[in-house]
Amino acid sequence: MKTLPITDDTHVLVLTGAGVSAESGVPTFRDAGGLWEGHDVHEVASPDGFARDPLLVWRFYSQRRAGMEGITPNGGHHALVALERRLGDRFLLVTQNVDGLHRAAGSERLIELHGELMRSRCTVCDRPPFEDRQAYKPGVAPMCGRCKAAGKDALLRPHIVWFGEIIDRAYLARIERFVDTAGRRLVFLAVGTSGLVYPAAGLVDAARHAGGTSWLVNAEAPANVERFDHVVLGPSGTVLPGLLAN
Ligand code: OAD
Repeated sequence: MKTLPITDDTHVLVLTGAGVSAESGVPTFRDAGGLWEGHDVHEVASPDGFARDPLLVWRFYSQRRAGMEGITPNGGHHALVALERRLGDRFLLVTQNVDGLHRAAGSERLIELHGELMRSRCTVCDRPPFEDRQAYKPGVAPMCGRCKAAGKDALLRPHIVWFGEIIDRAYLARIERFVDTAGRRLVFLAVGTSGLVYPAAGLVDAARHAGGTSWLVNAEAPANVERFDHVVLGPSGTVLPGLLAN
């Protein structure tokens, strides 16, 4: 069985997508039966869609919150935690997932690039995003309690980066610094992602440009498979514990 080549100065940058949570029972986006099937992305995951129909958007995210009930991290999440404990600051995990499972498993050097399903924020005031596990009842538009106390009506929104929105610059800067510091010592590992959504899909190019090597673990070959040096096809929940066992 292949193992990731890790020496005393190897730096590992991991990018995960929906596939890493598939074996926990969280649906992916683009596979058959995935989240985008039956949904127009622009209706439920864009600022314009939210402006047009906030109730529809809240229904979609409330269903996703409810769907997380009883869901726990799998062997893939746990294997990444074990690797982080070995490497310390020579490890960084970037996830496109909003399900919070990496955090639940114990990952600490973690960037949740696309936001967090279990947090909300106000569309008007500057209160920081806050934990909000509620799956709102259909037809209920959640309002900001802080604005209400000040006599104003303001909608809450999920703390998710929607299509057409900008990813936090500080996150991208942290990833860039990690890649620059690592240089040729970098091992980039993408797991369970279709390689279609940028900037995440471009990380493999950044890693190669820095002189690092790139690995992919995915159930099937995704769009950008040719850009990886090593490809392991299979379910990440069982592949990762072996690949990272070294
Ligand atoms: P996708 O649903 O596009 O891709 C999931 C990938 O995981 C596919 O290539 C599957 O073959 C693979 N996969 C499925 N089960 C797997 C398993 N058990 N082990 C390994 N791989 C498996 O999900 P993402 O690439 O994460 O953005 O999607 C990227 C972004 O597009 C998401 O963050 C989301 C979406 O639109 C926003 O919502 C902003």
